[in-house]
Amino acid sequence: MLPRNGTALALGLALASVGCSRVEQGDSRAAEAAVIGSAASAPSPTATRTAPSSVAAKTDGSALYARYCALCHGASAQGYAADNAPSLVTNTFLESASDAFIRRSIRMGRPGTAMAAYGAIRGGPLSEVDISRIVEFIRSFGPAYRAPPGPPGGNIERGAELFEKECKSCHGDETKRGNAVSLHNPELLASATPAFLHHAIVNGRAPTPMLPFKDRLSGEQIADVVSWLHSLAPTGPASAPVRETAIPNDLPIVINPKGKPPQFSLRENRYVSAAQVKQALDARQRLVLVDARSPADWIQYHIPGAISAAYHDTERLSRIPNDGTWVIAYCACPHRASGQVVDALRARGYRNTAVLDEGILVWRDRGYPLEGESVDRSAPQPKR
Ligand code: HEC
Ligand code: HEC
Repeated sequence: MLPRNGTALALGLALASVGCSRVEQGDSRAAEAAVIGSAASAPSPTATRTAPSSVAAKTDGSALYARYCALCHGASAQGYAADNAPSLVTNTFLESASDAFIRRSIRMGRPGTAMAAYGAIRGGPLSEVDISRIVEFIRSFGPAYRAPPGPPGGNIERGAELFEKECKSCHGDETKRGNAVSLHNPELLASATPAFLHHAIVNGRAPTPMLPFKDRLSGEQIADVVSWLHSLAPTGPASAPVRETAIPNDLPIVINPKGKPPQFSLRENRYVSAAQVKQALDARQRLVLVDARSPADWIQYHIPGAISAAYHDTERLSRIPNDGTWVIAYCACPHRASGQVVDALRARGYRNTAVLDEGILVWRDRGYPLEGESVDRSAPQPKR
């Protein structure tokens, strides 16, 4: 999907440099129009007719943030609570990220990473009003947005070489994420303007490990890298449209209800390996699988037979029989969200519970079975 040959790259850049801000705005307006349409039929509990006062928005935003985001981004959004989720409150991020960029990151997520889509438009739990309140809460930590200047055009080939040498060790490449936020993610590439990328590279993201490269690279070299990154932006939609945004309530809970119970051996009395769970499914043994991620992720793909009970919605766990049946929770993190679900189950007296040790991203990378919209559609499978 990513343009690879020189002509496509050059063309992509020429088009993108005129169209990038239009793409971001257009996409988010279309999404918002669609969501506002559906919000009328299914009002969210927090949706109100009158615009909230800024103080109320911040309070609501902080509660929403604590429920849905703190798990990975940390209580005060400084990042790195789980799965190397980035900071959302460095000065250089807040002054260069537009509201449209932040809203889109929350609404659409970053497919293939632990960052799920949270927007109702993707089957996530948040209305557009909720998303705006969270954005306002995040904004309360730092400077206002002031559109940074766009960089001059650079040389894409030289940019690719520089990335390999200076950036890949932390950011990874299109096949593998490093410890730092993935710069190859189609949702990021579709929404980040060259000015946003440039600002991060020139000024860094103190206090995180992202250093200001203005001290290490020339202005021309930085422009090369920005041009290369921007040339990777997808030409079509960054995420395939979803057919259904609601998960049916009447799906079976127990997998293989007539099967024998599996004999799992747990690490630290808590973690079960993906190989053992795969084996139990192959042997048609009786168990419950709980997908602890945002429901939007379940809609995209999940382990066959898994129910959706997200870390922020543990009420849904009451549907699971409390009769000694094995209950295995999984997430992408791979332990944080599933760990919360297992803690909630154990607190309710469930005897046989465990966290899928490697998480669903490793499950997927091993080619173990999955089902869901992005699997049915035989859309390009998330990369290994
Ligand atoms: C399960 C962990 C997890 C949860 C929960 C989570 N995120 Fe994220 N978030 C991530 C990760 C990981 C990334 C980076 C993805 C990548 O590698 O591309 C990310 C990226 C982001 C970004 C993009 C930042 C940038 O610099 O590009 C924003 C904005 C964001 N998250 C906001 C939120 C908000 C708001 C919530 C709550 C509604 C939330 N996230 C919940 C893990 C999480
Ligand atoms: C030492 C590790 C490291 C190196 C080397 C590094 N980065 Fe980063 N970079 C990070 C981290 C960590 C972040 C996320 C910081 C945060 O939490 O906001 C980041 C963030 C970014 C962002 C912002 C992305 C977003 O969505 O917010 C861009 C753009 C970026 N880096 C580009 C580069 C480029 C280009 C290079 C090479 C010239 C590079 N980085 C080298 C660690 C690194």
